[in-house]
Amino acid sequence: MRVVLFGPPGAGKGTQAHRLADRMDLALIATGDIFRANVANDTDMGREAKSYMDKGELVPDDVVVRMVVDRLDEEDAHRGFILDGFPRTLPQAQALENELAERNRPLSAVLKFSVPDEVAVKRLAGRRTCRRCQRSYNVEFKPPMGQGVCDVCGGELYQRDDDHEDTIRHRLEVYHHDTEPLEFYFWERGLFRQVEAEGTEDEVTNRALEAISDLLEDA
Ligand code: AP5
Repeated sequence: MRVVLFGPPGAGKGTQAHRLADRMDLALIATGDIFRANVANDTDMGREAKSYMDKGELVPDDVVVRMVVDRLDEEDAHRGFILDGFPRTLPQAQALENELAERNRPLSAVLKFSVPDEVAVKRLAGRRTCRRCQRSYNVEFKPPMGQGVCDVCGGELYQRDDDHEDTIRHRLEVYHHDTEPLEFYFWERGLFRQVEAEGTEDEVTNRALEAISDLLEDA
């Protein structure tokens, strides 16, 4: 099973990626998380990525593609994967398709999580993220049991540098301009389903699982 999750910032891709990867025993590959780990470790790639991420811009395609291709070749990804936040541009989508074709491991499903922009802004403004395992919480919708501490791994919760309203709104513009058009690319390939991403986390997970089984039946 090889699944891509896309949708606007704040749609709940990261939240659902963790849940689906656990349920289906798949590797979780989240490009934003990989960049943030590089920023934390002060690598060359981290320093380059940070200059784009802090402004809400996309990191250049060649940097992202190289990083994802390396990650796809790691052993855990061979049993299947969830890609969260990649591809986000047409060149990224084409590169992914070519690399997977070379490995005879085509995509199984592409799910778009959809929420109105104002819901996304509200969710992101209240988000707190675990420094250790990257799980998302929300001061309003999903507070952690202990203040400032991840329920799952005990890591420290923090507010991301790009989760401030003006940057959130810019990320939404970039999404609508650069990423949303990929819908048609994947629809043409018979891989695309839209998932309504409002409701409880369980409801959204169930809709996502139904969409995946629909696509597998149609394949
Ligand atoms: P990335 O980290 O991927 O951020 P994003 O796409 O902007 O998405 P988010 O993580 O903000 O939101 P999400 O949809 O995962 O929502 P979440 O589950 O956390 O990318 C960051 C940056 O890295 C980019 O801007 C770019 O610079 C760079 N980058 C990454 N990939 C790249 C690529 N391929 N190419 C170029 N550059 C790239 O949930 C959000 C909040 O909502 C949380 O508080 C959560 O608790 C809450 N929530 C979730 N579900 C629900 C629900 N059902 N009801 C109520 N609240 C909910």
